[in-house]
Amino acid sequence: MATLDRRTMLKLLAGTPLLAGCDRPSSHGSAQATTPQEKSSPEPTGTSSTPSDSKTDNSKYLSGDGPVRRQIPKLGVSIPIVGLGTWQQFDVGPNSPQMDRLREVVAKMVEHGGELIDSSPMYGRSEEVIGRLVDDLDVRDEVFLATKVWTSGKQSGIDQMNRSFERFQVETVDLMQVHNLLDWRTHLDTLQKWKDEGRLRTIGVTHYTNSALPRLIDVVSDYDIDFVQFAYSIANRAAEDEMLAAAAENDVATLINRPYAQGSLFGRASNRDLPPWAADLDIDSWGQFFLKYLLGDERVTCVIPGTSDPEHVVDNVGAAYGALPDQDERQRMVDYWES
Ligand SMILES: NC(=O)c1ccc[n+]([C@@H]2O[C@H](COP(=O)([O-])OP(=O)(O)OC[C@H]3O[C@@H](n4cnc5c(N)ncnc54)[C@H](OP(=O)(O)O)[C@@H]3O)[C@@H](O)[C@H]2O)c1
Repeated sequence: MATLDRRTMLKLLAGTPLLAGCDRPSSHGSAQATTPQEKSSPEPTGTSSTPSDSKTDNSKYLSGDGPVRRQIPKLGVSIPIVGLGTWQQFDVGPNSPQMDRLREVVAKMVEHGGELIDSSPMYGRSEEVIGRLVDDLDVRDEVFLATKVWTSGKQSGIDQMNRSFERFQVETVDLMQVHNLLDWRTHLDTLQKWKDEGRLRTIGVTHYTNSALPRLIDVVSDYDIDFVQFAYSIANRAAEDEMLAAAAENDVATLINRPYAQGSLFGRASNRDLPPWAADLDIDSWGQFFLKYLLGDERVTCVIPGTSDPEHVVDNVGAAYGALPDQDERQRMVDYWES
């Protein structure tokens, strides 16, 4: 009953009609099934259509299949392969009018089966906004909350992370990452200790530049971390070889930032049609074309496109449904994109 109440509330907050009898399973395709005790695999929740003026085709959500999930190898838990980035988009006043729109973004993400939300103290008020929205929507048990430490010095890191717990309004953070490798050796000690104590479920490191990839590879190879986050898109494929290989070899889950090259891919796509064969890959939009290109590589655990648009979050999470391209199809996607 509690689940139904929360689901009903999500539908109301997201402005979508409640459809009965459309529960999704917790796994799909080759992705690993999750077990009932996993915090990040809630009881199946209902799926629904989006409002009638939505540009997104939502028939796939009604098919009974859930989003594809992939394992976090060292945790033994799976997450859906599309999450949500919050840089810039979620840096708004917690009492500002934009909060209604962001509430809808989070509600729709959860409603359509997304779980991971990525933040950082670097993103202004994002952590506080996420904490409020997750509390408002009563979805703490349905999301995987990731944030970062972004400062120098041990005590400064501890103070900053304690503030993140307060802003998120949580006792446990699902993923704490060292942002842009800033003073990473110092912070990884604290992160490991807090993980051992149960305050953190998983730990990791991030960067966004290609020049940092060799350092990320070293950390992944030499330290016992759960996640590595880096930039990767169809237009920036530098991470495609050594970075993804190192993560896979070391059982480290991967988070992909800037999957749309900060939105610039849409500018290039605006005067082009999707190829006719995109439909065979269950691709409805350019956004899904870009995300499915990345997700076709099984070494990618989760992509985290940033958005403040409720329609875009539905479009993005839609890339976690249906077919994914194999290597030949991925090459065809690159060839088409570059033609
Ligand atoms: N060092 C780090 O740790 C690091 C660095 C960079 C980023 N990150 C993380 O990665 C996340 C993603 O990176 P990003 O936000 O810089 O870039 P991005 O995800 O590549 O692109 C975001 C842009 O794409 C637009 N967009 C999103 N979905 C869309 C859709 N379906 N259709 C059309 N436009 C769409 C957004 O606009 P709308 O708001 O209008 O949708 C926004 O302008 C960040 O939010 C952050 O959480 C981490």
